[in-house]
Amino acid sequence: MSEATTDGRRPEAKREPDRSAEPVISIRDLRKTFDGGEIIACEDIELDIYREDFVVLLGPSGCGKTTTLRCISGLEIPDGGQLLIDGVDMTGVKPKDRNLAFVFQSIALFPHKDVRGNLRFGLDMSTDLSKAEKNERVEEIAAMLGIEDKLDRKPADLSGGQQQRVSLGRAMVMEPAAFLLDEPFSALDANLRKHMQTEVKELQRRLETPMVFVTHDQEEAMAIGDKIVIMDDGLIQQVGTPYEVFNEPTNRFVADFIGSPSVNMFESELVRTDEGLTLSNDLFTLPVEDEVGGTAEPGAVTFGVRPQYVHVAEEGEGLFTGDVTLVEPQGDRDTVYFDVDGREVRAVVPQNSVSAGRTDVALDVDRDKFWVFDAEGDRLF
Ligand SMILES: Nc1ncnc2c1ncn2[C@@H]1O[C@H](COP(=O)(O)OP(=O)(O)O)[C@@H](O)[C@H]1O
Ligand SMILES: [Mg+2]
Repeated sequence: MSEATTDGRRPEAKREPDRSAEPVISIRDLRKTFDGGEIIACEDIELDIYREDFVVLLGPSGCGKTTTLRCISGLEIPDGGQLLIDGVDMTGVKPKDRNLAFVFQSIALFPHKDVRGNLRFGLDMSTDLSKAEKNERVEEIAAMLGIEDKLDRKPADLSGGQQQRVSLGRAMVMEPAAFLLDEPFSALDANLRKHMQTEVKELQRRLETPMVFVTHDQEEAMAIGDKIVIMDDGLIQQVGTPYEVFNEPTNRFVADFIGSPSVNMFESELVRTDEGLTLSNDLFTLPVEDEVGGTAEPGAVTFGVRPQYVHVAEEGEGLFTGDVTLVEPQGDRDTVYFDVDGREVRAVVPQNSVSAGRTDVALDVDRDKFWVFDAEGDRLF
């Protein structure tokens, strides 16, 4: 949309349309089923993706991440819902006409073309740039990815990381409206993977083009995502920043899926007496402040607390006691596994602060860091 001034000329500042306020990709009520509706791969998907967004779709295998991404790309036709790219309805628009670049886990480079030929392939197919302009763009992108000295090599002569850079580069030369990446680094070894995560995040900042990145690895998602979309069973469970999904999960699934070591859960009862709200289970009873518990209905609940917020208390104090079963050094901290009345409780404590073999260690939880979920798993407070 162009805005005209009264004298009919477009204002100078608007020459480049500023889309930062409008989503690049807008998804409403998206639904996709397979096998005649037997398998619901994803449904009720609502998402706005802005130009500056690094969005990560995160969830366990089979939760519908790839299907959602393929619906955006046009490789899959949704059963229902609406998809807009740059404000244009994509119904009936072919994948190649959506101005999106897709990078897959399996690196599909042309083995007989050199790196230059691989990078230039998409440009050769669909633009009317001159040969010199194409080469210039290819060289610019190769330099950005640090593979400018590999342009004359064949894919087989490259390492896994370099091959994945070529496949990223092939997407980048197209200057798409958005990048869609489906587990692009899962075949790389741990160190290279970390390195590529940092690189892709830097690239996204530099290109100012949104990325939608699929992974099942919560650590990867936390490391690179600005906006994490957590999916389970075809449904979005929560959309939030890495801190929001870690600190304020909306339900039990998210609490359990995010964070390492995993959250401690205790089946409990919420009781309301004259004194107020109380949470109790076979290990401890905890009064709940009105400001915290609010109007929560009494009943069966789950108490959850991250291992980072379980700490060793003075002897005779704390909520419960446990016997150390294992100490796992993690650098400046240790993960300590306790046997608490037959169940495992995990705590992250300062290095060397709990020795192996200790018994009856008094443990407490940070009183402002725990969560309570109702019987359906939704967060009460
Ligand atoms: N082409 C297909 N035909 C039938 N079922 C499919 C097809 N693609 C995906 N599914 C099913 O849809 C669900 C979501 O799959 P997918 O989107 O690939 O999950 P994810 O990428 O999160 O692992 C799974 O149950 C999967 O088996
Ligand atoms: Mg997948």
